[in-house]
Amino acid sequence: MSKKAFGIDIGGSGIKGAPVDLATGELLAERVRIATPQPSTPDAVADTVAELIASFDIDDDMPVGVTFPAVIQAGVAQTAANVDKSWIGTDVDALLTKRTGHDVFVVNDADAAGIAEMTFGAGQDTSGVVLVVTLGTGVGSATFVDGRLVPNTELGHLLLHGDSAEKYMASSIREKEDLDWETWAGRLQEYFSHVEFLFSPTRIIVGGGVSKKHQKFLPLLDLKTEIVPAELRNEAGIVGAAALARHEQKSLKKAAKKAKKAGKTSDGKSDEKSAKKAAKKAAEKSEQQAGEKEKVKREAAK
Ligand code: BGC
Repeated sequence: MSKKAFGIDIGGSGIKGAPVDLATGELLAERVRIATPQPSTPDAVADTVAELIASFDIDDDMPVGVTFPAVIQAGVAQTAANVDKSWIGTDVDALLTKRTGHDVFVVNDADAAGIAEMTFGAGQDTSGVVLVVTLGTGVGSATFVDGRLVPNTELGHLLLHGDSAEKYMASSIREKEDLDWETWAGRLQEYFSHVEFLFSPTRIIVGGGVSKKHQKFLPLLDLKTEIVPAELRNEAGIVGAAALARHEQKSLKKAAKKAKKAGKTSDGKSDEKSAKKAAKKAAEKSEQQAGEKEKVKREAAK
């Protein structure tokens, strides 16, 4: 299997994608951007994703990684901050796999950017707790412990002044309120001091489009933690999603092979599908169990 995969970044205003060389983290072709349909319902976005992939000449079995600005568990969107609410409860993997014919794996957008930074950018060779914080329309976070992702940490929704921090210090808020760099940096200082106190990270990596202008605000921050700009910038989501997709497809193929050996199914394609289904079922079961445990704990505390 060649070290290639396709990455797609779904954002509020644009859907961007390109094939990625996973040996280097570089795009294999110029990325294509299509405006996000409005309203950005699952059906409309799925059509755009299919159109985007079709504009490239890629192998049918190339895995596709897709970023999405939501909590993602076992391929299902659990939240929808800054996108159409009809995404909540949608099995994004299943929808896009069906619509595109490729194996599609969805991942939280900040987690994807984090994977890219850890593999090819400012997080390489780090250990301990590393936080990647993306400043954009919303604020995303990816948390790594000794290089391993703790998914869906959603640190943009930490409470600050009684509301989600992102409503106070996202890059979009700086633009909307026309804040100068010093004023915005003051807000970032409050946020990052809080995050630093909670997590004692070894490094904070700041991503999102505004990280191109890091000289305007990072030097104004006074933290104990080393805070650095992301290195992949705009392409981080595409690269991280592609890396994740290849990794997931490989695991599925392995699981399918194992199942085939055990004589469970006969053709490779349906093996993969059943492996994906089985993995999803297992994740759902463990979520359900976690929910049950919580319930028991709450009952016990009464
Ligand atoms: C969402 C996150 C997302 C971030 C950046 C937040 O509002 O809750 O899931 O990672 O925005 O897009």
